Amino acid sequence: MAAAKRLLTDLVSVVNHVPSNYIRPISDRPNLLEIKNHGIPETMISNILRIAKEFFRLPESERLKNYSDDPSKTTRLSTSFNLKTEKVSNWRDFLRLHCYPLEDFLHEWPTNPPSFREDVAEYCSSVRGLVLRLLEAISESLGLEREYISKQLGKHGQHMAMNYYPPCPQPELTYGLPGHTDPNLITILLQDDVPGLQVLRNGKWIAVNPIPNTFIINIGDQMQVLSNDRYKSVLHRAVVNCDKERISIPTFYCPSSEAVIGPAQKLIDEDHPAVYRNFTYQEFYEKFWNRGLATECCLDLFKASSPS
Ligand code: OGA
Ligand code: NI
Repeated sequence: MAAAKRLLTDLVSVVNHVPSNYIRPISDRPNLLEIKNHGIPETMISNILRIAKEFFRLPESERLKNYSDDPSKTTRLSTSFNLKTEKVSNWRDFLRLHCYPLEDFLHEWPTNPPSFREDVAEYCSSVRGLVLRLLEAISESLGLEREYISKQLGKHGQHMAMNYYPPCPQPELTYGLPGHTDPNLITILLQDDVPGLQVLRNGKWIAVNPIPNTFIINIGDQMQVLSNDRYKSVLHRAVVNCDKERISIPTFYCPSSEAVIGPAQKLIDEDHPAVYRNFTYQEFYEKFWNRGLATECCLDLFKASSPS
Protein backbone atom coordinates (compact mmCIF):
# COMPACT_ATOMS: atom_id res chain seq x y z
CA MET A 1 0.00 0.00 0.00
CA ALA A 2 1.58 3.29 -1.06
CA ALA A 3 1.64 5.84 1.73
CA ALA A 4 0.32 9.27 0.94
CA LYS A 5 2.94 12.02 1.00
CA ARG A 6 3.19 13.57 4.38
CA LEU A 7 5.46 15.84 6.31
CA LEU A 8 8.06 14.31 8.57
CA THR A 9 6.49 16.11 11.51
CA ASP A 10 3.34 14.02 11.04
CA LEU A 11 5.16 10.88 10.05
CA VAL A 12 7.13 10.57 13.28
CA SER A 13 3.97 10.16 15.30
CA VAL A 14 2.93 7.02 13.41
CA VAL A 15 6.17 5.15 12.71
CA ASN A 16 8.78 3.77 15.06
CA HIS A 17 11.40 3.14 12.39
CA VAL A 18 13.08 5.18 9.67
CA PRO A 19 11.32 4.58 6.32
CA SER A 20 13.55 3.18 3.58
CA ASN A 21 13.78 6.44 1.62
CA TYR A 22 15.65 8.00 4.57
CA ILE A 23 18.20 5.24 5.00
CA ARG A 24 21.69 6.09 3.78
CA PRO A 25 24.21 3.55 2.54
CA ILE A 26 26.31 2.27 5.46
CA SER A 27 29.38 4.19 4.28
CA ASP A 28 27.45 7.45 4.46
CA ARG A 29 25.86 7.11 7.91
CA PRO A 30 26.79 9.26 10.87
CA ASN A 31 28.24 6.23 12.69
CA LEU A 32 26.49 7.48 15.72
CA LEU A 33 23.66 5.55 17.14
CA GLU A 34 21.57 6.68 20.03
CA ILE A 35 19.27 3.95 21.20
CA LYS A 36 16.19 4.37 23.33
CA ASN A 37 14.18 1.15 22.89
CA HIS A 38 16.98 -0.95 24.29
CA GLY A 39 15.00 -2.97 26.84
CA ILE A 40 17.24 -1.98 29.77
CA PRO A 41 14.97 -0.77 32.60
CA GLU A 42 15.17 2.89 33.62
CA THR A 43 15.61 1.85 37.23
CA MET A 44 18.71 -0.15 36.33
CA ILE A 45 20.13 2.87 34.50
CA SER A 46 19.52 5.33 37.31
CA ASN A 47 20.86 2.79 39.76
CA ILE A 48 24.17 2.23 37.97
CA LEU A 49 24.72 5.99 37.66
CA ARG A 50 23.99 6.39 41.37
CA ILE A 51 26.40 3.57 42.31
CA ALA A 52 29.16 5.18 40.24
CA LYS A 53 28.57 8.54 41.87
CA GLU A 54 28.61 6.98 45.32
CA PHE A 55 31.82 5.12 44.55
CA PHE A 56 33.66 8.32 43.65
CA ARG A 57 32.34 9.97 46.80
CA LEU A 58 33.77 7.32 49.10
CA PRO A 59 36.58 8.47 51.38
CA GLU A 60 39.94 8.43 49.59
CA SER A 61 41.32 5.61 51.73
CA GLU A 62 38.36 3.41 50.73
CA ARG A 63 38.65 4.22 47.01
CA LEU A 64 42.42 3.71 46.96
CA LYS A 65 42.05 0.05 47.92
CA ASN A 66 41.34 -0.49 44.22
CA TYR A 67 44.14 1.73 42.85
CA SER A 68 46.62 0.53 40.20
CA ASP A 69 48.54 2.09 37.28
CA ASP A 70 49.02 -1.26 35.56
CA PRO A 71 46.72 -1.53 32.48
CA SER A 72 46.92 -5.33 32.57
CA LYS A 73 45.08 -5.47 35.92
CA THR A 74 41.50 -6.60 35.39
CA THR A 75 39.99 -4.44 38.13
CA ARG A 76 41.51 -1.08 38.95
CA LEU A 77 40.95 2.50 39.86
CA SER A 78 43.29 4.93 38.14
CA THR A 79 43.54 8.43 36.78
CA SER A 80 44.10 10.13 33.40
CA PHE A 81 44.68 7.40 30.72
CA ASN A 82 48.10 5.77 31.10
CA LEU A 83 50.40 7.57 33.51
CA LYS A 84 53.37 5.49 32.36
CA THR A 85 53.30 6.57 28.72
CA GLU A 86 51.49 9.88 28.38
CA LYS A 87 53.12 13.34 28.31
CA VAL A 88 50.04 15.30 29.33
CA SER A 89 47.50 14.03 31.83
CA ASN A 90 43.73 14.00 31.40
CA TRP A 91 41.15 15.44 33.77
CA ARG A 92 39.62 12.09 34.63
CA ASP A 93 39.61 9.35 37.24
CA PHE A 94 38.25 5.96 36.26
CA LEU A 95 37.35 2.61 37.67
CA ARG A 96 37.87 -0.11 35.11
CA LEU A 97 36.39 -3.58 35.44
CA HIS A 98 36.55 -6.68 33.33
CA CYS A 99 33.07 -8.15 33.39
CA TYR A 100 32.79 -11.19 31.12
CA PRO A 101 32.74 -13.99 32.05
CA LEU A 102 31.40 -12.50 35.28
CA GLU A 103 32.45 -15.32 37.59
CA ASP A 104 36.12 -14.77 36.66
CA PHE A 105 36.11 -11.18 37.88
CA LEU A 106 33.29 -10.57 40.33
CA HIS A 107 35.44 -11.46 43.34
CA GLU A 108 37.90 -8.65 42.47
CA TRP A 109 35.31 -5.88 42.29
CA PRO A 110 34.81 -3.24 44.97
CA THR A 111 32.48 -4.16 47.82
CA ASN A 112 31.64 -0.58 48.60
CA PRO A 113 28.98 0.80 48.02
CA PRO A 114 27.60 -2.45 49.49
CA SER A 115 25.35 -3.32 46.53
CA PHE A 116 28.16 -2.65 44.00
CA ARG A 117 28.79 -6.24 42.90
CA GLU A 118 25.17 -7.25 42.65
CA ASP A 119 23.98 -4.11 40.84
CA VAL A 120 26.91 -3.83 38.46
CA ALA A 121 26.71 -7.55 37.59
CA GLU A 122 23.05 -7.20 36.73
CA TYR A 123 23.78 -4.16 34.55
CA CYS A 124 26.62 -5.98 32.76
CA SER A 125 24.45 -8.95 31.83
CA SER A 126 21.69 -6.72 30.49
CA VAL A 127 24.10 -4.66 28.41
CA ARG A 128 25.67 -7.86 27.09
CA GLY A 129 22.24 -8.99 25.88
CA LEU A 130 21.81 -5.70 24.09
CA VAL A 131 25.26 -5.98 22.46
CA LEU A 132 24.55 -9.49 21.17
CA ARG A 133 21.35 -8.25 19.51
CA LEU A 134 23.23 -5.33 17.96
CA LEU A 135 25.96 -7.64 16.64
CA GLU A 136 23.35 -9.76 14.87
CA ALA A 137 21.80 -6.69 13.26
CA ILE A 138 25.19 -5.32 12.23
CA SER A 139 26.25 -8.70 10.76
CA GLU A 140 23.08 -8.76 8.69
CA SER A 141 23.54 -5.17 7.57
CA LEU A 142 26.87 -6.27 6.10
CA GLY A 143 25.32 -9.22 4.28
CA LEU A 144 27.00 -11.68 6.65
CA GLU A 145 25.31 -14.49 8.54
CA ARG A 146 23.64 -13.34 11.77
CA GLU A 147 26.17 -15.02 14.02
CA TYR A 148 29.20 -13.97 11.97
CA ILE A 149 30.61 -11.20 14.18
CA SER A 150 29.85 -13.03 17.41
CA LYS A 151 31.73 -16.07 16.09
CA GLN A 152 34.86 -14.03 15.39
CA LEU A 153 35.27 -12.95 19.01
CA GLY A 154 36.66 -16.16 20.48
CA LYS A 155 35.33 -16.49 24.01
CA HIS A 156 34.18 -12.85 23.93
CA GLY A 157 35.28 -10.11 26.32
CA GLN A 158 33.48 -7.29 28.08
CA HIS A 159 35.02 -4.46 30.08
CA MET A 160 33.46 -1.41 31.57
CA ALA A 161 34.62 1.88 32.95
CA MET A 162 33.12 4.30 35.36
CA ASN A 163 34.60 7.63 34.30
CA TYR A 164 34.57 10.48 36.78
CA TYR A 165 35.35 13.99 35.50
CA PRO A 166 35.58 16.45 38.39
CA PRO A 167 34.78 20.13 37.81
CA CYS A 168 37.84 21.82 36.29
CA PRO A 169 38.93 25.38 37.14
CA GLN A 170 40.24 25.98 33.58
CA PRO A 171 38.44 23.60 31.18
CA GLU A 172 39.91 25.37 28.13
CA LEU A 173 43.39 24.06 29.02
CA THR A 174 42.78 20.33 29.15
CA TYR A 175 40.53 17.37 28.22
CA GLY A 176 38.69 14.73 30.17
CA LEU A 177 39.77 12.45 27.34
CA PRO A 178 41.44 13.76 24.15
CA GLY A 179 40.28 12.61 20.69
CA HIS A 180 40.50 8.83 20.28
CA THR A 181 38.74 5.86 18.78
CA ASP A 182 37.82 2.96 21.04
CA PRO A 183 40.11 -0.02 20.43
CA ASN A 184 37.39 -2.61 21.09
CA LEU A 185 34.55 -3.82 18.85
CA ILE A 186 31.60 -1.73 20.02
CA THR A 187 30.97 0.59 22.97
CA ILE A 188 27.67 1.13 24.76
CA LEU A 189 28.07 4.48 26.49
CA LEU A 190 25.82 5.73 29.24
CA GLN A 191 26.28 9.33 30.36
CA ASP A 192 24.69 11.25 33.21
CA ASP A 193 22.91 14.56 32.56
CA VAL A 194 26.05 16.71 32.19
CA PRO A 195 27.28 17.38 28.62
CA GLY A 196 30.90 16.59 27.71
CA LEU A 197 30.99 14.00 24.92
CA GLN A 198 31.92 15.22 21.44
CA VAL A 199 32.33 13.36 18.15
CA LEU A 200 34.22 14.42 15.03
CA ARG A 201 31.93 14.73 12.03
CA ASN A 202 33.02 16.24 8.68
CA GLY A 203 36.02 17.82 10.36
CA LYS A 204 34.05 19.45 13.18
CA TRP A 205 33.65 18.47 16.82
CA ILE A 206 29.97 18.10 17.64
CA ALA A 207 28.53 17.85 21.16
CA VAL A 208 26.49 14.73 21.82
CA ASN A 209 24.36 15.98 24.66
CA PRO A 210 22.82 13.51 27.09
CA ILE A 211 19.27 12.26 26.58
CA PRO A 212 17.81 10.45 29.61
CA ASN A 213 17.71 6.64 29.37
CA THR A 214 19.51 6.67 26.04
CA PHE A 215 22.73 4.89 25.15
CA ILE A 216 25.30 6.08 22.65
CA ILE A 217 26.67 3.26 20.51
CA ASN A 218 30.21 3.84 19.30
CA ILE A 219 31.71 1.68 16.59
CA GLY A 220 35.20 0.62 17.68
CA ASP A 221 38.38 -0.26 15.79
CA GLN A 222 37.69 -4.04 15.62
CA MET A 223 34.38 -3.42 13.85
CA GLN A 224 36.19 -1.27 11.31
CA VAL A 225 38.59 -4.15 10.66
CA LEU A 226 35.99 -6.94 10.54
CA SER A 227 33.84 -4.91 8.16
CA ASN A 228 36.88 -4.08 5.99
CA ASP A 229 36.20 -0.34 6.48
CA ARG A 230 32.41 -0.47 5.76
CA TYR A 231 31.88 0.66 9.37
CA LYS A 232 34.24 3.34 10.65
CA SER A 233 35.29 3.70 14.26
CA VAL A 234 34.29 7.11 15.45
CA LEU A 235 36.74 9.72 16.75
CA HIS A 236 35.42 11.16 20.00
CA ARG A 237 36.57 13.01 23.11
CA ALA A 238 35.32 14.24 26.45
CA VAL A 239 35.58 17.89 27.47
CA VAL A 240 35.23 19.12 31.03
CA ASN A 241 33.51 22.13 32.56
CA CYS A 242 34.10 24.40 35.53
CA ASP A 243 31.06 23.80 37.66
CA LYS A 244 29.74 20.26 37.40
CA GLU A 245 31.20 16.82 37.96
CA ARG A 246 30.33 14.38 35.18
CA ILE A 247 30.01 10.61 35.11
CA SER A 248 29.99 8.34 32.10
CA ILE A 249 29.83 4.55 32.02
CA PRO A 250 31.09 2.96 28.80
CA THR A 251 30.76 -0.80 28.27
CA PHE A 252 33.49 -1.99 25.92
CA TYR A 253 32.60 -5.21 24.13
CA CYS A 254 35.62 -6.93 22.60
CA PRO A 255 37.12 -10.14 21.25
CA SER A 256 38.94 -12.32 23.80
CA SER A 257 42.69 -11.84 23.67
CA GLU A 258 43.51 -14.95 21.59
CA ALA A 259 40.82 -14.24 18.93
CA VAL A 260 42.23 -13.57 15.46
CA ILE A 261 40.67 -10.49 13.90
CA GLY A 262 40.76 -9.57 10.22
CA PRO A 263 38.45 -8.40 7.44
CA ALA A 264 35.56 -10.81 6.66
CA GLN A 265 36.35 -12.90 3.55
CA LYS A 266 32.92 -12.06 2.15
CA LEU A 267 33.77 -8.35 2.22
CA ILE A 268 37.01 -8.78 0.27
CA ASP A 269 37.02 -8.75 -3.54
CA GLU A 270 38.87 -7.08 -6.40
CA ASP A 271 37.23 -3.73 -5.75
CA HIS A 272 37.62 -4.07 -1.99
CA PRO A 273 41.00 -5.60 -1.19
CA ALA A 274 41.67 -6.44 2.48
CA VAL A 275 42.53 -3.16 4.19
CA TYR A 276 44.00 -4.89 7.27
CA ARG A 277 46.12 -7.90 8.02
CA ASN A 278 45.02 -10.52 10.55
CA PHE A 279 46.17 -10.05 14.15
CA THR A 280 45.25 -11.22 17.62
CA TYR A 281 43.25 -8.86 19.78
CA GLN A 282 45.98 -9.12 22.38
CA GLU A 283 48.52 -7.65 19.94
CA PHE A 284 46.22 -4.76 19.12
CA TYR A 285 45.28 -4.07 22.71
CA GLU A 286 48.89 -3.91 23.91
CA LYS A 287 49.79 -1.47 21.13
CA PHE A 288 46.79 0.65 22.05
CA TRP A 289 47.73 1.03 25.70
CA ASN A 290 51.39 1.67 24.93
CA ARG A 291 50.82 4.38 22.36
CA GLY A 292 48.74 6.80 24.35
CA LEU A 293 45.63 8.56 23.15
CA ALA A 294 47.16 11.63 21.54
CA THR A 295 48.03 9.76 18.36
CA GLU A 296 44.34 9.03 17.91
CA CYS A 297 43.87 5.79 16.04
CA CYS A 298 45.95 2.64 16.26
CA LEU A 299 44.53 1.05 13.09
CA ASP A 300 47.23 2.32 10.75
CA LEU A 301 49.67 -0.09 12.37
CA PHE A 302 47.56 -3.02 11.19
CA LYS A 303 47.06 -2.04 7.53
CA ALA A 304 47.62 -4.87 5.07
CA SER A 305 50.13 -2.67 3.24
CA SER A 306 52.10 -1.49 6.26
CA PRO A 307 55.19 -3.40 7.43
CA SER A 308 54.38 -4.94 10.83
C1 OGA B 1 35.85 6.38 26.79
C2 OGA B 1 35.12 7.56 26.32
C3 OGA B 1 33.55 9.35 26.68
C4 OGA B 1 32.81 10.03 27.77
O1 OGA B 1 35.83 6.12 28.01
O2 OGA B 1 36.46 5.70 25.94
O3 OGA B 1 35.23 7.88 25.17
O4 OGA B 1 31.87 10.73 27.47
N1 OGA B 1 34.33 8.26 27.15
O5 OGA B 1 33.19 9.86 28.93
NI1 NI C 1 36.13 6.32 24.01
